[in-house]
Amino acid sequence: MAQKFYIKGGTPLKGEVSIGGAKNSVLKLIAAAILVKGITKIYNVPELTDVDIMLKVIAQLGAKIDYNKEEKSVTIDATELTSVTATYELVSKMRASFVVLGALVSRCKEAKVAMPGGCAIGERRVDFHIKGLEALGAKIKIENGYVIAKANKLTGAEVYLDIPSVGATENIMLASVLAEGSTRIQNAAQEPEIVDLANFLNTMGADVNGAGTSEIVINGVKQENLHPIEYTTIPDRIEAGTYMTAIIATKGKGIIKNIYPAHLTFFTNKLLKMGANIKLLDPTSMEVSCKNRLNSINFITQPYPGFPTDLQSMAMALLTTSNGVGIITESLYENRFMQVPDLNRMGADIHQDRNHAIIKGVKKLSGTALTASDLRAGAALVVAALMAEGESVVEKIHHIDRGYENFENKIRLLGGKIERREEIPKTLTEDNHNESYL
Ligand code: EPU
Repeated sequence: MAQKFYIKGGTPLKGEVSIGGAKNSVLKLIAAAILVKGITKIYNVPELTDVDIMLKVIAQLGAKIDYNKEEKSVTIDATELTSVTATYELVSKMRASFVVLGALVSRCKEAKVAMPGGCAIGERRVDFHIKGLEALGAKIKIENGYVIAKANKLTGAEVYLDIPSVGATENIMLASVLAEGSTRIQNAAQEPEIVDLANFLNTMGADVNGAGTSEIVINGVKQENLHPIEYTTIPDRIEAGTYMTAIIATKGKGIIKNIYPAHLTFFTNKLLKMGANIKLLDPTSMEVSCKNRLNSINFITQPYPGFPTDLQSMAMALLTTSNGVGIITESLYENRFMQVPDLNRMGADIHQDRNHAIIKGVKKLSGTALTASDLRAGAALVVAALMAEGESVVEKIHHIDRGYENFENKIRLLGGKIERREEIPKTLTEDNHNESYL
């Protein structure tokens, strides 16, 4: 059944919001747990459809899963794996599951993982992942839509990434944990989620150095050196940035709790430049508020520590009513301005030219019928609807459920007027849940 958000805009968000575990980290930790012959327990696991999919992927490999939603923990028993295949049915639902490739090759010396393909926001190739595994000695062929990898043994190697790809860095890290000798990843991604994965691996007995810098060195260890662990996922910086935006957009005042403020430095600085007030209260919480009309800014999305592409759409929502003209350059994805047509239908003045968007601030947005085209574009439309005058209905919110736990409840706790309602689709195609994979 199709679910929609019904939103009445114009109420300043006030109060406290607590941030959950990082989606883009926990998905990789779940994949990494299959490296250990034993029981791993991960805490701070958000209840998201993407987490469910990743758990199904490793269950398909033979891991035994116990997801305690009350405790927000997952127990993974990967003592025995019974399969090396991650099927298209699951991988096509979530491209992040492709990261099991590295973990499987590492532990089983073979893997058959469906090619994830592109998605709504861009082509999203996996060529760097494959080149990296080949450098370690895996023989790879692509057949019938599957990547089939085999290796008699994996040997440490020098891997240089053309782009600091998050997924490729993770896949190569996972593949080299049990390789013979040292692997050096140059131009590695530096995202906090990479550091979290390295910490997770090191806690279980791996030897990963330099995560968080552009050069990561993994000294291979033996299978028997890896042991079961308990580990807590880092907070979700993108979820935090989304609530910061929503509070600022509605001219509210709120506290964002359970965060690592340092993970949001670039974004916070841009918000301060726009005129928002942001105060560090203690090492894990910030107070955010805004009274006046914001000033426009320009920015370019970049790999960490630059401006995060996953918050580009939120910043765009703020720029729609800021004073002046703002220019956004999206440098990571070919098609990540999916929110633009709907924002313009709300009264925004955005002109898009390839990967540039020119946003002329208008006085106000007004509510209307909106459609979430992907996770972050969808969340930005909710933010826009909360700041707009009047009512909005957001469709295709299954995209938002992939990455925001309890979204409407957290917004409601801040005083936002939002409701989730179920509606029977008018046509069979209206409720299509398979059109985009993040
Ligand atoms: N790329 C290639 N070849 C490759 C790998 C990447 O050309 O082999 C290109 C991609 O097409 C893309 C760029 O490099 O244009 C960056 O891709 P990257 O590999 O860094 O991204 P990812 O690992 O697929 C993760 C997050 C994304 C986030 C990006 C960038 C997960 C599950 N996803 O994707 O998160 O946008 O890093 O920070 O970790 C989201 O949460 O909404 C989301 C899309």
